[in-house]
Amino acid sequence: MSDFLTVKKRTHYCGNLTISNVGEEVILMGWVNRRRDHGGVIFIDLRDREGLAQIVFNPDINPDSHRGAHAIRSEFVLAVRGTVQGRPAGMENPDLKSGAIEVMVTELEILSEAKTPPFVLNEDAEVSETVRLRYRYLDLRRPEIQKNLILRSKIAAETRRYYQENGFIEVETPVLTKSTPEGARDYLVPSRVNPGMFYALPQSPQLFKQLLMISGFDRYYQIVKCFRDEDLRADRQPEFTQIDVEMSFIAEDDIYRITEGLVAHLFRTCLNTKLQIPFPRLSYADAMEMYGRDNPDIRFALELKDLTHIVRNSALKVFSEVASAGGVIKAMKIEDGKSLTRKDLDGLTDYVSTYGAKGLAWARVNPDGWTSPIFKFLTPSEVKDINNRMDAKEGNVIVFLADSPSIVNDALGNLRNHLARKLNLAHPRQYSFTWVNEFPLFEYSDAEKRYVSKHHPFTSPVMEDIPLLSTDPGRVRARAYDLVLNGTEIGGGSIRIHRQDIQSLIFRTLGLGDEEARRKFGFLLEALEYGTPPHGGIALGFDRLVMIMTGVESIRDVIAFPKTQKATCLLTDAPSEVSIEQLMELSLKIV
Ligand code: AMO
Ligand code: AMP
Repeated sequence: MSDFLTVKKRTHYCGNLTISNVGEEVILMGWVNRRRDHGGVIFIDLRDREGLAQIVFNPDINPDSHRGAHAIRSEFVLAVRGTVQGRPAGMENPDLKSGAIEVMVTELEILSEAKTPPFVLNEDAEVSETVRLRYRYLDLRRPEIQKNLILRSKIAAETRRYYQENGFIEVETPVLTKSTPEGARDYLVPSRVNPGMFYALPQSPQLFKQLLMISGFDRYYQIVKCFRDEDLRADRQPEFTQIDVEMSFIAEDDIYRITEGLVAHLFRTCLNTKLQIPFPRLSYADAMEMYGRDNPDIRFALELKDLTHIVRNSALKVFSEVASAGGVIKAMKIEDGKSLTRKDLDGLTDYVSTYGAKGLAWARVNPDGWTSPIFKFLTPSEVKDINNRMDAKEGNVIVFLADSPSIVNDALGNLRNHLARKLNLAHPRQYSFTWVNEFPLFEYSDAEKRYVSKHHPFTSPVMEDIPLLSTDPGRVRARAYDLVLNGTEIGGGSIRIHRQDIQSLIFRTLGLGDEEARRKFGFLLEALEYGTPPHGGIALGFDRLVMIMTGVESIRDVIAFPKTQKATCLLTDAPSEVSIEQLMELSLKIV
């Protein structure tokens, strides 16, 4: 075995060498980032997880090593011994932590050779994500991705530290379990010893953490993998990680306080950023009214204003007809309207059409009126009322949308984010948190023709709304809350039902018969009867939080081995077919 590994141990990480090491003899091990041959002298940037160091092979000083260095190619793994020296004046690299020094090599060993990598690692070359994921182990050598995963590890460590210091106990819950109703499809695992039976991978540890409260653990947390078979997006993975929390003898404020404390702790320790706590709170109704969605990005204004009462009887048919059909007319004001050309404004119409909107009207505000296709249809007093309502000034642009409330909110809510990106209104290093609460407990599913839980069926209704359960379930408010950061839902939770009678009532409203409820969650219903403390909790989407804290656009950039949009792993080729023997053993047949 190489005596570089057994006797002469590595003394430093490449990236940590600085001018203070000059004169020291060091042993480095790492990958060849780049090799340059300068008429005799060979320079190599050696890379390890801490960064690069320039190592130098000089034929006059050490002919043996210099001869050996000729064979070296990119991504070879080397061990070198040498002396740290300052770089000659003018040759320093200020972009590199070790940029003021270089290591004059006296001994070289090639620990491992490497094939030419399928893509260049040491440049910002555009490489398709497919190739990057296929060779993820090489992609993970890139400092940008390593930096994300190193920060992720620190955030996890600080999360544990915070909860431990606040009296929480980490408990592991099963991965092979029974289906939990969090609204997505389950990943199922067949049981060999129980033919025809399946485990479900947990969509969250929801039921177990509630059982732990019944057991008296009082304050629980876990950094835990969850599995959901749902359509994937830039911030969704089929397996993802939650910071899962549950507490007993508490109300909403306690969850807010402990969660705000965590987030402030993480931003301080991991990003050196001080957050303003407590975070603002917004009811679901207000969020929909003002921003058109329940995960608003509040780094910028672009607030929606309802104009229905002003234009209800307008001569403009698109407005009056929508209003009389029960729809709404909402508008949004863009301060710097001059930054939008006529072509841009027409483009916005195409944009909202993807959300089902049939048109979009706009108006440029001038000192003496509007430049707008709808100006001639409106009376001076309507224009005046709209200007007042929008607080419009010269140079602003107002956009209007008339349709059903859901289309208007969806289209304008998305247009708001679209405009903020286009006009650079949202700074990526600005962090705007908001709690959204007072969600409706149920939403009506047209597909299933019944009410379904908006959060999950263990969420407590607001007590004073309980009479509405039998008369108007859609208006019952939930004791549920989401934490939103820069327009992304990074967490959600609720105060739970701790009384069996109310839990049964909710199941009945959901159209879940006693028999079916018993079969699905009988164990929870039974447990609730043996002394259940009032309790509640929250789960934060760990990957999403790390994504925003590292400033990347895709959740895949903060997960070591992520899956594609089609839920496949390009590296291992999962999912894959299995042998007929395996299927037989599991009593399964592919149809
Ligand atoms: P919820 O379903 O809101 O709540 O999930 C909590 C948070 O997890 C994140 N998240 C995801 N992240 C990445 N990929 C996904 N597919 C994905 N799905 C969810 C989101 C979300 O806010 N048991 C409840 C919590 C509770 O009531 O305590 C739950 O799981 O950031
Ligand atoms: P029209 O009468 O179709 O020519 O439309 C008059 C103006 O109203 C045009 O600027 C359209 O873009 C706009 N418009 C059409 N449908 C809507 C709608 N649903 N909401 C807002 N504006 C609309």
